Amino acid sequence: MSKPVILTGLRANNDLHIGNYLGALLPIVDMANTKSDEYQINLFIPDLHSFTTPIDHGSLQDGIMNNLKLYVAAGFPLDNPNVHIYRQSYIPAHSELTWILDCFTGMGEMSRMTQFKDKSLSLGEDRISVGLFNYPVLMAADILLYGASYVPVGEDQSQHIEFTRDVAERINSQFGDIFVIPKPVNEQHEFFGKDQGLRIKDLVDPTKKMSKSSDSSKGIIFLNDDIGSVKDKIISSTTDSMNLISYSKETQPGIANLIDLLALISGKSIEEIKSKYNGQTQYGPFKNDVAEAMSSFIEEFQAKLLGVDESAIMEKLTTSEKQMNEIANSTLLKVQKAVGLRK
Ligand code: ADP
Ligand code: TRP
Repeated sequence: MSKPVILTGLRANNDLHIGNYLGALLPIVDMANTKSDEYQINLFIPDLHSFTTPIDHGSLQDGIMNNLKLYVAAGFPLDNPNVHIYRQSYIPAHSELTWILDCFTGMGEMSRMTQFKDKSLSLGEDRISVGLFNYPVLMAADILLYGASYVPVGEDQSQHIEFTRDVAERINSQFGDIFVIPKPVNEQHEFFGKDQGLRIKDLVDPTKKMSKSSDSSKGIIFLNDDIGSVKDKIISSTTDSMNLISYSKETQPGIANLIDLLALISGKSIEEIKSKYNGQTQYGPFKNDVAEAMSSFIEEFQAKLLGVDESAIMEKLTTSEKQMNEIANSTLLKVQKAVGLRK
């Protein structure tokens, strides 16, 4: 029996921010370091997903290498044969399976995807691509080709995981046991030790998710920000005028977000942080502590990044991409046979 698979992808459009790091990168790096005896761990660059919204194509290659280096700086081990890094477009089966899945996907179910609705709102009607609409189908192919059971992603991607399960079940019920069905999202949260998907908020508008597609970078802590601006962004983050620290995402979203961030980067529980600051009437000292913790975290991360060896990454890509082509092609062949494309 092959090992169950844990898989995730992080797009290389822009530099990653602390939300991407905590929501998607850290969980898989932890798994790669603690669970690789029992699980196969795949971390890939969804490069075909990169231009579902307009990008500067000339900088895509740099963006890809930059992200791969971030994975390694975050602790992803390259010398472990059970962990893999690869680029989606180097495994043509992703595109081929997407087409087949497209034909088993309803226009209605794609139109309901909130990420599509949100992202298309920020583009003009004639700039919304079919690729953006189709995005979750390619994502389903990414997951199903390797039979992944667990897919650590932030809360905004949960709907795409549910869609992946739906389309896989649809095909299995018509053609028999073709795909491994990923675990339901709530079981995945349990597996990763969380009660729900993580959603770090923008520091300027804490009612919105921190997202690299935001217009302004003032509310976003990028992993490659300079230390001075990390501190400034935290100190000038939006809070409220209640003058009392308590943890309420509804009434004090800014404070709650800073508490979440401090807990996650210091490896402490929310409870610990809450009990330290609850009831304080001044926000300044609390913000200073968060700014100090965040800036040391970013500083250490950047020091690790400087030491990352590109040639070790290239070597690992070559090995992983060869192995992943074999796995992906064997799943694709099963599907091609099922739908009548192969004998
Ligand atoms: P962005 O919204 O910044 O463009 P992506 O859509 O590329 O981010 O997401 C990359 C990964 O990071 C996904 O797994 C996503 O769920 C996770 N993620 C993105 N933003 C956050 C956030 N604010 N909090 C937690 N996880 C996040
Ligand atoms: N859609 C994910 C994002 O926006 C990236 C992604 C593409 C992905 N394919 C995937 C994540 C497969 C997990 C599994 O962040």
